[in-house]
Amino acid sequence: MTENRKIWLDGQIVDEADAKISVFDHCVLYGDGVFEGIRIYDGCVFRLREHIERLWSSAKYIMLEVPMSRDEMVDAVAQTVRANGLRNGYIRLVVTRGVGDLGLSPANCGRGSVFIIAANIRLYPEEDYQNGMEIVTVPTRRYNVGSWNGRVKSCNYLNNIMAKIEGQIAGAREALMLDHNGMVVECTGDNIFIVKNGVVNTPPVYLGALRGVTRDAIMDIAEERGMEVREDPFTRFEIFDADECFLTGTAAEVIPVTRLDGRSIADGCPGPVTLELLEAFRELVKCDGVQVYEK
Ligand SMILES: Cc1ncc(COP(=O)(O)O)c(C=O)c1O
Repeated sequence: MTENRKIWLDGQIVDEADAKISVFDHCVLYGDGVFEGIRIYDGCVFRLREHIERLWSSAKYIMLEVPMSRDEMVDAVAQTVRANGLRNGYIRLVVTRGVGDLGLSPANCGRGSVFIIAANIRLYPEEDYQNGMEIVTVPTRRYNVGSWNGRVKSCNYLNNIMAKIEGQIAGAREALMLDHNGMVVECTGDNIFIVKNGVVNTPPVYLGALRGVTRDAIMDIAEERGMEVREDPFTRFEIFDADECFLTGTAAEVIPVTRLDGRSIADGCPGPVTLELLEAFRELVKCDGVQVYEK
């Protein structure tokens, strides 16, 4: 990765140093905007159209008009990746509410800004993929869906950031978030799955979990392989009692979880279903998306 990244900003590729947003943009003032995190694998942007659909759904929820079409956004992402000469990496796509005044109302905001960053990312160390990671449950609860729906990938991530900090204080790289009734929702930046007696289960998104693109891909893969896949609500008990547990996310891919809150899950080693799904996922990412370079 070059030091001087090229950023796509409102229709132009600019140097990182020139990629600037106004301090009066409501995204800066209030976290008023939406975003996506996307992976590129060997020149193929994984499930780009699905990410763009989710971005549009997030924008619709907050009544934000994306100032370009979906096709233009696909082109802009491809252009950004090419401008940075990246074949593997991570793309951050952001749509802001735009420049307004100091009041909350977006009524005076002009056209929103769109910016796209293409860079590298490494979230968890390799040893966590080999041995499994330990996670902890944190006191901060996932937003109640009646107050704010966690399905919206908005630029206000403070709920997740608080949980992340609490997890780190407890010595864990990822933290489990429950809802107000103690049901498992998701982790700070990853969806969670358990496997029990061959059944693959993940919390339903109506509890306020993001509908992860990786989550969807894993559910597809598991079904194609004849596994039973469910979206049944569960508590921490079902995680302690599971045969396997793993997380999914754009940055994390598929990562085994072998301990929760100081208890080993099953024998404390990554399980066969997790490893099978991880391997299948790594095959899928080679071909499922938008090619950025001429073959
Ligand atoms: C809160 C949250 N849950 C789950 C995920 C995983 O979603 P995806 O697989 O689309 O990256 C993410 C990351 O985007 C996230 O921020």
